Amino acid sequence: MDKPLTSPSKAHRSFRIDARLTTSRLLATLLTLTSFAHAETGAEGWLRYAHLTNASAIHQYDALPSQIVVLGNTPTDKIAATELQRGLTSLLGRSFTISHSPTDEINAIILTNLSALNKDFTITGDKRKPESYTIGLKIEGNDHRYIILGTDTHGEIYGVFHLLELVASHQPIPTEPITESPSSPIRWVNQWDNLDGTIERGYAGQSIFFEGGHVRHDLTRVSDYGRLLASIGLNGVTVNNVNSDLRTLQPDMIREFARIADKLRPWGVRMSLSIDLSSPQVVGHLPTFDPVNPTVIAWWEAKIDEIYKVIPDFAGFVIKADSEGRVGPSQYHRTPAEAANAVARALEPHGGIVLYRGFVYNNHLDYNDLKADRARAGYDNFEPLDGAFESNVVVQIKHGPIDFQVREPVSPLFAALQHTSQAIELQVTQEYTGQQRHMVFLVPMWKAALNTDLRAQNRSTLVKEIVEGRSFNQPLGGFVGVTNVGLDINWLHHPMAMANLYGFGKLAWNPDLTSQQIIDTWTRLTFGNGPKVVSTIDDLQANSWHAYEEYTGNLGIGTLTNILGYHYGPGIESAERNGWGQWFRGDEQGIGMDRTVATGTGYIGQYPQELAKIYESLTSCPDDLLLFMHHVPYTHVLHDGKTIVQYIYDAHYEGAATAQTYAPRWQTLHGLIDNDRYNEVLKLFNYQAGHAVVWRDAVTKWFQKESGIPDKQGRVGSYPDRLEAENMNAEGYTTIDVKPWETASNSKAVECNQPTGCILSTTLDKPAGTYNITVQYFDFWSGKSHFALELNHLPIGDWIADDILPPARPDFHPDGETSTRITFPNIALKPGDTLTLHGTSDNTEPAPVDYIEITR
Ligand code: GCU
Repeated sequence: MDKPLTSPSKAHRSFRIDARLTTSRLLATLLTLTSFAHAETGAEGWLRYAHLTNASAIHQYDALPSQIVVLGNTPTDKIAATELQRGLTSLLGRSFTISHSPTDEINAIILTNLSALNKDFTITGDKRKPESYTIGLKIEGNDHRYIILGTDTHGEIYGVFHLLELVASHQPIPTEPITESPSSPIRWVNQWDNLDGTIERGYAGQSIFFEGGHVRHDLTRVSDYGRLLASIGLNGVTVNNVNSDLRTLQPDMIREFARIADKLRPWGVRMSLSIDLSSPQVVGHLPTFDPVNPTVIAWWEAKIDEIYKVIPDFAGFVIKADSEGRVGPSQYHRTPAEAANAVARALEPHGGIVLYRGFVYNNHLDYNDLKADRARAGYDNFEPLDGAFESNVVVQIKHGPIDFQVREPVSPLFAALQHTSQAIELQVTQEYTGQQRHMVFLVPMWKAALNTDLRAQNRSTLVKEIVEGRSFNQPLGGFVGVTNVGLDINWLHHPMAMANLYGFGKLAWNPDLTSQQIIDTWTRLTFGNGPKVVSTIDDLQANSWHAYEEYTGNLGIGTLTNILGYHYGPGIESAERNGWGQWFRGDEQGIGMDRTVATGTGYIGQYPQELAKIYESLTSCPDDLLLFMHHVPYTHVLHDGKTIVQYIYDAHYEGAATAQTYAPRWQTLHGLIDNDRYNEVLKLFNYQAGHAVVWRDAVTKWFQKESGIPDKQGRVGSYPDRLEAENMNAEGYTTIDVKPWETASNSKAVECNQPTGCILSTTLDKPAGTYNITVQYFDFWSGKSHFALELNHLPIGDWIADDILPPARPDFHPDGETSTRITFPNIALKPGDTLTLHGTSDNTEPAPVDYIEITR
């Protein structure tokens, strides 16, 4: 394993702390031990503070004094002290007391920040960056003083969480003082929440912020969210959808938003809003929203003053404009810089900033124009504006040039903006990566983007260093994660998905951490320190992005999901022949977007020369981006010696095979994980195994049909163990065509429109033995069909298609989004047995069935 997550990579040992506490005795308050036996709902995320049971692990923290002395008196100081007390008490099973006054007790944890220090402390050392902290144990004879010193209250609370994380994950606590500083000032999440309580691309329930057009009455979850965010060093939340509601800047809404800001503030998390640039017209009733118009400028100034009156620490605005139907400055032939600056100048006196999104593109491109290319848009629109933005404007750039596909190169815009602050936008909510129904640990994907060396100015310019503001010496910069947590008790629906939120925060703080460090600590905090638990879960997560890529879209082609719908199940052709520009240009001859300078869209020429040269050549272009950059025949041979088409077949079978291992590997942890979360994850893994097969079959069949080249291993299109539902004897069931055709076996399914139910039956001719019987059916949101499976008229099992797992959004069609399965293991069969499936429809869900598969 790599070095532990919280190792002091940014430690500066020159910092010296000397504390002499001279006044009254610490008032010790003995607190009741918290109960360790609580239901594991996932609500606490990685902040469970589960009691350490390993005696030697506990022993290493014996030197931690039981008294916490907090010197500051702000809400954040208080919350930091309470968190420390709560965490240590729970973890170590002994009581910790809090005192707010200096003490002559010699054993204490001193919790403070530079502004709260009194003259009894002398400090020497470097000037620390804002939000930094120093922690360390100071032992003098029998005196133990453990110091947590923030540069400010933010740093103080981060130091508390750091210490708690060390203890919870069995890591040694530093004895020499170490200092940690954040990589960059902007470490925000964007929530795409609508005021009506829905969340765009949210897969874990309704909004924690809004309900019925207003801020929710009960904001308890908002405080809890602030706590989670602070624990991983995040300092900002944009609470509403980038597709902003036009009511956002109305006076009554601003007052409502202030309630959210109040809940986040104690955690050092500042609130910001997504706004629509037409607000001066729509909310202010001005005749125009032209950003350079003086009345518009004055409107922004007044509006921003109004906001700061009720939200004094308001962080600023996120702006989506001229994109996907949102209006923008183009309406007045103004540039994004002119628009951003008008707003930024009004924010500047208050310390607010503008994050202007680089996601500006034309979604009405002409598919027949071989030079048209959505990937070019970010650079084409923003590169000419480099240097034209105010210093409190940050261009927020999605990590890839398209839209969070399972594999994309990094946006060339990062290298092009050398006089403009930038933030990278990463997507925690798994819009194109399984929507928290599939386990996909995204940190390795983000690391690949952050570690890409763009070679701007022919020197090392890693994306992570660009967005930190280091490469081009910019004042601001950072990380934005589109998170979309919801009211689901565990925040993101899949317990494993929380590793992505955790990982996002950790990378935003320190992008040099490895994926292994991140997942290892997350697992320990979330599921415990048992070696088997840790190694099993680390391994499951570590490879999951690669597996997902294998069974969805390979070689940089895009995710191949239904881009016109929910972006979830397979929907291969949906990417083609429309204005959205997520094309891969697959036909009988070949596949891939020709983005070369020589013959294609010229996109590759947007990269700095050295990198462009690598991408431009078929020989040096990495295989995993090949189809993003080039159009090639299916018979093109990859670096590993396989043809493109055979690679696609093999990868899909391998990826789906990996997904089949998740549930059995998880089952080895039975008894080592609390039952609730154990069962929840097992259910999701079983579902993922089935859906990975849906993906595998859809994509491989599509390519076999399109290329006309068979799978060398004969797997694609040949499913000898399957009984197609439409070929079974049917009573009441009727056969339908499934669309898109590739999302059902044989492109057909059956549905039952009889109120009394329908029956499928068949006589088996399997050699005698023990088999697993899988029923592949479709589960819509609109009903709860009932199924019962019988062998020789004796029940094997029955179940309800209960809408809980697939998909995350309502879909009322039999297709690759609603396709799911149930498996009955170890069924003894002999030739001549009769297998019968009874289906009873419910509401508009007609108990649809794709096939029954019988395997050893
Ligand atoms: C994607 C996503 C949209 C979102 C947009 C954005 O296209 O599907 O729902 O609004 O990105 O980032 O603005």
